[in-house]
Amino acid sequence: MRDATCLAVLILAAALTGCGPGKSDTGGAASTAASSTDASALDTPANRKLVEALGPAYAKADLANGQVHFALCRSCHTITKGGPNMTGPNLYGLFGRPSASVADYSYSEGMKGAHLVWGADTLNTWIKDPRAMVAGTKMSYPGMPDDKDRADLIAYLKVASSGGAN
Ligand code: HEC
Repeated sequence: MRDATCLAVLILAAALTGCGPGKSDTGGAASTAASSTDASALDTPANRKLVEALGPAYAKADLANGQVHFALCRSCHTITKGGPNMTGPNLYGLFGRPSASVADYSYSEGMKGAHLVWGADTLNTWIKDPRAMVAGTKMSYPGMPDDKDRADLIAYLKVASSGGAN
């Protein structure tokens, strides 16, 4: 009886590890290269709709350029559903999400006290200069000064964090 239970647990564990990392594999240069080759595939009607919901400032956002700039974030963040926390928290479902709300991630005191809701406007301020927005944040990324690159990145974040790309 006990052996049978153990076996069942082992099979379950094998099944979980079998589908987990494979599905959420975003790591490495290979997958970045693979997704940028089909960058035009990002420009689907469904993805455009997601981006338009951000407001008129994003109507002409270049998703492929946003994806290229997300390479700067990928070393610390996954954005796919169920992706692991790395140096920074997983970003799936980011839009509309309160700051510091990934349960199994250990945020800085500064971020815990920030009480933001992530959306196009808050992300725009954050990505421009994280430390100016949240004093004491442990995100060491220095900021992205270029307005157009930031807008393109935010459009890409919207699509990718909604499961529309990786
Ligand atoms: C060097 C690693 C690093 C890089 C590069 C980086 N981040 Fe972060 N990020 C972090 C860390 C660490 C935190 C947690 C901050 C804290 O707790 O103060 C964070 C937090 C965040 C948050 C808040 C998430 C939440 O759950 O409240 C967002 C949004 C974010 N990063 C977006 C980005 C974007 C977009 C980029 C690329 C432009 C980026 N990060 C680049 C490490 C990084």
